[in-house]
Order: sequence, then C-alpha cells, then structure tokens
Amino acid sequence: MRTWLITGGAGFIGSNFVWMAARQELASLVVLDSLTYAGNIANIRDLVETGEITFVRGDICDSETLVELFGRYEFDRVVHFAAESHVDRSILGPDAFIRTNVEGTYKLLEAARSAWADAGDGKLFVHVSTDEVYGSLGPDEPAFTESSRYKPNSPYAASKAAADHLARAWFRTYGLPVVVTNCSNNFGAWQFPEKLIPLIILNAVDGRELPVYGDGQHRRDWLHVEDHCEALLLVIQGGKPGETYAIGGENERPNLEIVRQVCTAVDGLLGQAPGTAAKLIRHVKDRPGHDRRYAINPAKMRSELGWRPRRNFDNSLRDVVQWYLDHREWAEAIRSGEYKEFYDRQYGGR
Ligand code: NAD
Ligand code: TYD
Repeated sequence: MRTWLITGGAGFIGSNFVWMAARQELASLVVLDSLTYAGNIANIRDLVETGEITFVRGDICDSETLVELFGRYEFDRVVHFAAESHVDRSILGPDAFIRTNVEGTYKLLEAARSAWADAGDGKLFVHVSTDEVYGSLGPDEPAFTESSRYKPNSPYAASKAAADHLARAWFRTYGLPVVVTNCSNNFGAWQFPEKLIPLIILNAVDGRELPVYGDGQHRRDWLHVEDHCEALLLVIQGGKPGETYAIGGENERPNLEIVRQVCTAVDGLLGQAPGTAAKLIRHVKDRPGHDRRYAINPAKMRSELGWRPRRNFDNSLRDVVQWYLDHREWAEAIRSGEYKEFYDRQYGGR
C-alpha cells in the first residue's frame, strides 16, 4: 500500500484533499498538522475516528518529529500544504510566516532528502503554493504561467516564494523529486472565516457590515477547492520531478462582484427581500501592498495532465453559501475564540 504524508491536512485545502483521497482509497494517509488557529481537527475528525487516516499533531519546523515520522513510515509522496496562509495576518505579524513557510519547508525538504537518499525512483514531494508569488498583473497583461517572474508583494507571498525557491533548489542540487504547484484563490467548505468568501457569508447572515477593501475592483481567479484537489491528485500521480504546474479557474472576478453574488445567494437562501444583504457592504481602508489582479493560464495542466475545472462557479458558490448556513456551529466555535481578537484588530476603526 502506498503511504502519503499530508502536511497541513487539518486546514482548509488540506482537509478537502484528505477527504477526497481517503474516499478514493488511493493510499494510506498520514496527516501532520500542528493545529494552529487555522487548523481544525473537526474538519477531519470522522476520518480519524474511523481509522481511515492517521493524524499526528506536530510541527513541520521540528526536525525530530519529521525524522521520527519518516523513520516510522515509508512515504512515497509528501503533499505539503502546511503554511501560514492569510495575507492580512502576514502584514500584522510576519514572523510566523517566515518560520513555518520558509524554515518549515526547508526542514521538510531536508527530512525527505535524508529519508529518500537511497530510495530510487517512485517518490514525489508536492509543494503546494500560490499564484501570489508572481505579484500583481496589469489590467491588460496575459495571465500568469509557469514561466512568469516571481515578484511577491506581501510578507505571505514573499515567504511562499522563498519556499518555492528552496523546493526548486533541492531538485536542482540534490535531485530531490519535487514538483511545485501555484494555484489561484480557492473557495469551498471548511475555509477559515478570515478569508473573503466565508467572512462575507457569515457577516451577511448575522447582519454585520461587509468590509470591502478599497474600491473593490481587485480581481482574483476563483477556483472551487475540489477542482484544486483533483488537479493535485493528477500532479501527485503524473507530475514530473522538477516541473511547476499553474492551476487556476480562468474565472477572474472583481471582489465587489463576488461580494454582491454572495449577498444575492444569502438573500435567496434566507428568504430575505432582494438587496437586504447588499445594504451591509462598506468600503474600508485598503490593504497595504494590495495586489490588483491575479489570473492563471492553466494550459499546461490541461495539455499535460488532462485537467480542467469541472464545477460551475455560480452554482458552486451558492452551494458553498448553503454549506456555511448548514455548519453554523462549526463557524461559531471558530468565531468565539482567538478569531474574535484578530477580527477586532483587523477591522476595528478601519
Ligand atoms: P490554512 O491556513 O487553512 O491551513 C494551513 C494548515 O497548516 C492548518 O491546518 C495549520 O494548522 C497547519 N500548519 C500551520 N503551520 C504549521 C506548522 N508549523 N506545522 C504543521 N502544521 C502547520 O491554509 P489553506 O488555505 O488550506 O492553504 C493550504 C496551502 O495551499 C498553503 O500552503 C497555501 O499557501 C496554499 N494555497 C492556498 C490557496 C487558498 O486560496 N487558500 C490558494 C493557493 C495556494
Ligand atoms: P483573501 O480571501 O484574503 O485572499 P487573498 O488576499 O489571498 O487573495 O482576499 C481576497 C480578496 O478580497 C483580496 O483582494 C482582499 C479582499 N478582501 C476584502 O475586500 N475584504 C475582506 O474583509 C477580506 C478578508 C478580503
């Protein structure tokens, strides 16, 4: 039986990935996650309790934990999701981003290199990254591809860019079989409510203000998280060591349009008069260094791995709004804890 190490498997994308891979019984799955504020064991509890996956609470910066894990299991894949992932938090406090995203990735690459030194072919380290490493596109520039220049603008993006460079160097110098994926903005179930879409859904349901940074004309390329996970499964099984894969939905939209769409869905699902939620929209002070536009050209994923996103954006956005309405307890447990302090710090007086 194949064995995969999934770091960050209790976070948003990691937990969606773990559910998908477990359902397909592709491998025996070991999740390593330190359960930061963003990690939530509730996302994968059912799989842990039934013994379908193994969960290890541990830090990717801790070499001893990594050596012990690589000694205990013969991993043939590492799928590396673990990261600090929120741009606004990286602006408030970049320290944890440098530690986990840069140092943690370095420690994980080293653990894999040492464990796989004499292992021969058949191993793959999949480093999951973001389109934010490429910086901001001008209004008429073509979408990012695998050969776009790295120009990160936020501490988060810079820390992910540094990690991508380490991954590349470990392939070139040591021959570690690494692939890097750079994906656009994801949305879906189990996304921590500090990110735009869940934040707007939950605030709209509660009748709280809907904060839109600046003029709201910043554009993101939105992809359903399960489409991302399907792309990753193809990379895991057919990706070539040393290659990079750009993953995106070809679904660019300004933030204000996304917020309005969420409002329409909330009004419909709650049976409110049309326009009720949108009255809560408030333009607030812009994010420093805010990238104006991201877009991905996923031609390589399409031609080399046969991937394309399968979900229709408008329908799946409505389903995601319904998911958050159906999981109020999950969201409330998060919103009553540390998140409340962050929210007040981030939005208070803005
Ligand atoms: P997330 O913040 O929801 O989850 C991150 C997970 O990593 C959490 O479970 C957390 O507990 C864990 N973690 C953090 N530090 C750790 C450490 N030191 N040791 C062990 N575990 C640790 O993030 P996400 O949105 O699921 O993103 C996952 C990955 O995908 C990240 O690498 C991110 O850069 C990348 N990515 C995210 C998006 C997006 O839209 N969310 C898009 C493209 C790429
Ligand atoms: P976010 O979900 O934080 O993802 P990223 O910054 O990684 O793209 O934000 C998506 C977009 O929404 C981004 O342009 C910032 C904007 N935004 C708001 O306008 N208001 C908010 O409260 C948040 C969290 C984000």
